[in-house]
Amino acid sequence: MTGSSSGLGASIVKYLAKAGASVAVHYHSEKTQAEAIAQEIINEGGNAKVFGGDVASLEAVQTLFAQIDRELGPIDILVNNAGIDGKRALCGHDNPADWEKVIGINLLGPYFCAREAIVRMEKKSRGVIINITSVHETIPWTGYTAYCAAKAGLSMFTKTLAQEVADKGIRVVAIGPGAIKTPINKDVWGNPETLKDLLDKIPMERMGETDEIAKAAVFLSSDLASYITGTSLFVDGGMLLYADFKHGG
Ligand code: BGC
Repeated sequence: MTGSSSGLGASIVKYLAKAGASVAVHYHSEKTQAEAIAQEIINEGGNAKVFGGDVASLEAVQTLFAQIDRELGPIDILVNNAGIDGKRALCGHDNPADWEKVIGINLLGPYFCAREAIVRMEKKSRGVIINITSVHETIPWTGYTAYCAAKAGLSMFTKTLAQEVADKGIRVVAIGPGAIKTPINKDVWGNPETLKDLLDKIPMERMGETDEIAKAAVFLSSDLASYITGTSLFVDGGMLLYADFKHGG
């Protein structure tokens, strides 16, 4: 479970633990927060271990999976959640290094983790990979070319990988969250004007809660979803429904 020290990841890892999974609480920079989440899980009778590492580094990911093998055993469920929006900047007026950073964490990271997970899952002929994408798999977002390119790329990676491993007992799916209230978009929901602008884009007229994503992750990783692969489940309060078309046209 990558990026589980805050936001969506923290909620997903707690729900998976509650559902009975032994969980790897992964963090990049917020070790103390990750440890607190693991402790919370342990206090509630679950099994959790903390692991650090940069998902954008192939070497760090290989080390991470070797550590997980030793401490928890080979992985059954991978949730590629670690991600950043990146800095808002128009193409040509941006910094290519920022673009590469977003692609590194949001797209290369899931690929590096998936390739480690796949070889382990193939040996057991079972496993589930969940990639956390976004409504920006499909909705363009000015100022965020890297983010949108990464999420659309992750969606196609999900489908292609699902096709590759479908006959090996491994499912690969994506969850596409809409605007979920987390630290990633605090600058938007923390300001009444930008919050109103955001809510106007959501037919359900509210932001999502992290547990609404976590419940989808528990469902998709369980046998309740045994015939679901290669698709994205959008959890977005209707954000993909073109809210502006509620009036006129
Ligand atoms: C982004 C959020 C944004 C939401 C809706 C998500 O993928 O991470 O910052 O609020 O999409 O635009």
